[in-house]
Amino acid sequence: MTPEQGKFITFEGGEGAGKSTQAKYLAEYLEQQGHKVILTREPGGSPGAELIRGLLVTGGADKWSAEAELLLMYAARADHWQKRIHPALEQGYWVICDRFADSSVAYQGYGRGIDLEFLTLLYKKTVGDRKPDRTYIFNIDPHKGLERASKRSVDGNKNEDRFESFDLSFHERVHQGFLTIAHQDTDRCLIVDANQSMQQIQDLICQDILNLQS
Ligand code: TMP
Repeated sequence: MTPEQGKFITFEGGEGAGKSTQAKYLAEYLEQQGHKVILTREPGGSPGAELIRGLLVTGGADKWSAEAELLLMYAARADHWQKRIHPALEQGYWVICDRFADSSVAYQGYGRGIDLEFLTLLYKKTVGDRKPDRTYIFNIDPHKGLERASKRSVDGNKNEDRFESFDLSFHERVHQGFLTIAHQDTDRCLIVDANQSMQQIQDLICQDILNLQS
């Protein structure tokens, strides 16, 4: 008998939207409900992809061309998908992923101007036909999000701030990109107003996820 397929849930949005905290909370909640759960992230999530993450998120904005950046993102994604996400879904795990391919569409596509058809082709060749079952797109004004993110970088003493150093107009294009993705795929995507309290967002997501639990 084939084991039950797990569900694939992704969290997306611009900088400083609070999605990582909510992804962690959802993973804990689903575990409490008795599901097998994996919480992971992109870029990263497998040993090889974590190495590539280090290349992508540190250094200056012009460290990589848009094309090199996209191909590194997809090299990381291919490894993460093949070694971690896909096997986990096959084994019936719920996979909660902090960022996935919509981030490439928003950042490298809308933000950096890469042809969206090329992005679709890369997705097909690496991930295939499988899409996330649900995607939460955190909506925050980019200016406010960047302020929150820079505070987090200082507090956390992290140097993973390469994308934060892109200019505001880039982050505005990324923001519009995420909203476009959400409007084009309303069955899969739910826009979450990131200005709400953490508790309000938790409640909204826990309520929404009931639709996927059977
Ligand atoms: P994080 O700070 O949410 O962990 O994400 C790291 C950065 O990588 C974030 O600024 C967004 C960026 N990113 C892309 O540009 N394209 C992608 O495909 C992914 C997954 C992330």
